[in-house]
Amino acid sequence: MTAPKKLHVKTYGCQMNVYDSERMAETLGVKGYVTTDRPEDADLILLNTCHIREKAAEKVYSDLGRLKPLREAKPDLKIGVAGCVAQAEGAEIMARQPLVDLVVGPQTYHRLPAMMERVEAGEKALDTEMPEEDKFDHLPKLRSPAAKPTAFLTVQEGCDKFCAFCVVPYTRGAEVSRPVERLLGEARALVDRGVKEITLLGQNVNAYHGLGPDGAVWSLARLIWALDGIDGLERIRFTTSHPNDMTDDLIEAHGTCAKLMPYLHLPVQSGSDRILKAMNRKHTAEDYLRIIARLRDARPDLALSGDFIVGFPGETEEDFEATLQIVRETRYAAAYSFRYSARPGTPAAEREDVPQDVAVERLHRLQALITEQQQAAQRAMVGRETCVLFEKAGRHEGQLVGKSEYLQAVHVQAPDALKGQVARVRIEAAATNSLAGVLI
Ligand code: SAH
Ligand code: SF4
Ligand code: F3S
Repeated sequence: MTAPKKLHVKTYGCQMNVYDSERMAETLGVKGYVTTDRPEDADLILLNTCHIREKAAEKVYSDLGRLKPLREAKPDLKIGVAGCVAQAEGAEIMARQPLVDLVVGPQTYHRLPAMMERVEAGEKALDTEMPEEDKFDHLPKLRSPAAKPTAFLTVQEGCDKFCAFCVVPYTRGAEVSRPVERLLGEARALVDRGVKEITLLGQNVNAYHGLGPDGAVWSLARLIWALDGIDGLERIRFTTSHPNDMTDDLIEAHGTCAKLMPYLHLPVQSGSDRILKAMNRKHTAEDYLRIIARLRDARPDLALSGDFIVGFPGETEEDFEATLQIVRETRYAAAYSFRYSARPGTPAAEREDVPQDVAVERLHRLQALITEQQQAAQRAMVGRETCVLFEKAGRHEGQLVGKSEYLQAVHVQAPDALKGQVARVRIEAAATNSLAGVLI
């Protein structure tokens, strides 16, 4: 018997890529590949890439360059590029880096086993189609116990919004929602494998409009309520949402659905109406603040996070000041801010950039404000009780680490038997990125 072939996957970018990497590993598992954390042991290395900012995309090429000695040591080593850079650049990747044997886009990775047969025969393989068939229908179904009590579940993919800066509508294609029954089936299977928390994923997850078993089109809120009925599933989250799809039923669910966790990632990108218009966001700062107020009415302890772009073409000091202002008014528990990166093929790439030093300086100011808010949110937890889903052993003896309802990391002295379980914890200390507490 020959030893199983080894696969190493490196994931860049968003949670959807994390999800896809796991599915790719499972698909190749059917062909006899087992995963390894060590690239030097691998027979196949897959880079699951992100195209969102120039830095992310360029990192792929420097990482590919670094694989050269591995290939020299092991001429049979196969190297593949998957994900959004694969979709955006296709055959150019092989032209620029001849080490690459395989290029596969986000919508065709269910074809990896067949592609690998060609690669193993010494050919190159490329597939960046956006096929009619649904890749999810062709992926293997697992029954083994889940490695973690938390899981992602892609319910919607792609984007029709075309924000002026963003590559996602091009790399992931048009918005597609998966049918309700499939999702409920997969969620039940995850729970049967020991999963307690499911995070529903979509590039625009709250634009979900899937076919229900009754023939009607279901909203995300309706899907969440159906998931709420699954015994053994304890927590539901979803990401990433767009303000314009924050419907009444979804806002209401935050107040009434006990399994829906009180944390919402709702990016606004800028606080300036002029810039929001130039970004093609189709909402104002006021619209956003009104949605936040309604969400907090429904769920007063809701923790919010957001994304911001600074230095978008045409951004003035006054526009940037409006961004600081919306952050002050919203009071985020966490937020992610990025310097604008011009992306090929997007409308904003044609426009004139804000000088780099100006953008960098604004980014620092915004990040300082965000850090302040994040620290305040962490400190506000001290003395409070929260439920923690324990995920793994902590760094210290007898310690477990889990996530609070508000998605904060919490360290607790707790028996190993609590791993994979939810327990009530009193928070006693706060640091910027984690909390410490005791079991109640
Ligand atoms: N679908 C999600 C997330 C898209 S990508 C949404 O609509 O919110 C994640 C974040 O990357 C975005 O929210 C945005 O803040 C940032 N981003 C996207 N394109 C960018 C670009 N060209 N330059 C800098 N940041 C960008
Ligand atoms: Fe990109 Fe905008 Fe679509 Fe989000 S909504 S994925 S930022 S185009
Ligand atoms: Fe990046 Fe593609 Fe996700 S561009 S952020 S990996 S959808």
